[in-house]
Amino acid sequence: MNIKNDLFLRAFTDAKLPRPPIWLMRQAGRYLPEYKATRAKAGSFLELCRSPSFCAEVLLQPLERYDLDAAILFSDILTVPDAMGLGLTFGVGEGPRFSKPLREESDVHALAVPDMAKLQYVFDAVAECKRALTQDGEQRVPLIGFSGSPFTLACYMIEGAGSADAFPLTRRMMLQRPELFQKVLDVNVGAVTAYLSEQIRAGADALMLFDTWGGVLAPRLYREFSLAPMQRIVAALRAEFPSVPVMIFSRGAAHSVGAIAAGGAQGIGVDWQSDLADVRAAAGPHVTLQGNFDPLLLTTDEDTIRREIAKSLAGFDPHHRYIANLGHGITPDADPALVGTFVDTLRST
Ligand code: CP3
Repeated sequence: MNIKNDLFLRAFTDAKLPRPPIWLMRQAGRYLPEYKATRAKAGSFLELCRSPSFCAEVLLQPLERYDLDAAILFSDILTVPDAMGLGLTFGVGEGPRFSKPLREESDVHALAVPDMAKLQYVFDAVAECKRALTQDGEQRVPLIGFSGSPFTLACYMIEGAGSADAFPLTRRMMLQRPELFQKVLDVNVGAVTAYLSEQIRAGADALMLFDTWGGVLAPRLYREFSLAPMQRIVAALRAEFPSVPVMIFSRGAAHSVGAIAAGGAQGIGVDWQSDLADVRAAAGPHVTLQGNFDPLLLTTDEDTIRREIAKSLAGFDPHHRYIANLGHGITPDADPALVGTFVDTLRST
């Protein structure tokens, strides 16, 4: 497939680019009234995720409003544990919840890599999103596929929901029963590798591993229980699909940027609590950095946005191996007009 605007993919080479490519984590989401309208039509967030045509509809919404250089599959990271039989629900106004979390040793022993047929709706959504991006035989921008990291998925699978206290049940199993916890991670490595491979076969042009919670761990525990399983996935994908770049986004793990870069991922997502120039120094010149603006900027004003962009990029080369993005997902209270200011300012960088 010919990609009309491939700036995002060129950011994974050593080429000097005329401007940084830009997209936004959660660019299709609740800050857009048209997203809320589609979600209402679908009935709920999960029904939206399960309908390939609605997924394609919301995928295009931010591209109609803004000059973005990539689109991300519309789905969620928790589709995988749901397919393992853990029973995912999203209550209105609440985060995710599993009806059958991993609480007993026997729950862990019963856990297995799910049949990928249970996730066919996601692969169908990838294909439908790809079709929706294609006009006159050309794909407008690259399509990013994604998964949760084995550790971040384990947090939700064990805790059964989000956590205000850094996932105590998960960390207790990790500390007290490391071999049992490793069994969960091993199943997740197998599941995520199969899941991402199928997304590539369905049309994903690049991949991202969302490791939202790896940063709750001390650096040595992060490397053992979060980074190492991700590196097994990256190695397997690189062996089978060498031309598809894989990015790792570990929130709160700036301490291990050198180790992430050494481990084979082509890209590193940078959270908003780091300075890009420091991360570049730690990561070296041959890995692509993505990030790292504070999502809160999109609730401020035009002057603040322009000033912060200039200050964040001081001492950093945004034309080489860099993808402009936020340092975490866009929030529901972001102002759609300010998102336009943000995108346009970065496009003229
Ligand atoms: O970036 C995109 O536009 C792609 C879509 C995407 C969603 N979730 C859609 C979504 C992606 C890449 C994700 C990843 C995801 N999901 C992560 C990792 C990234 C991160 O934000 O740290 C996590 C931890 C989840 C699990 C999840 N899904 C939570 C905790 C929640 C509820 C929190 C919230 O923001 O309300 C979701 C719901 C969710 N996933 C929404 C969207 C658009 C909002 C649901 C709605 O429309 O009501």
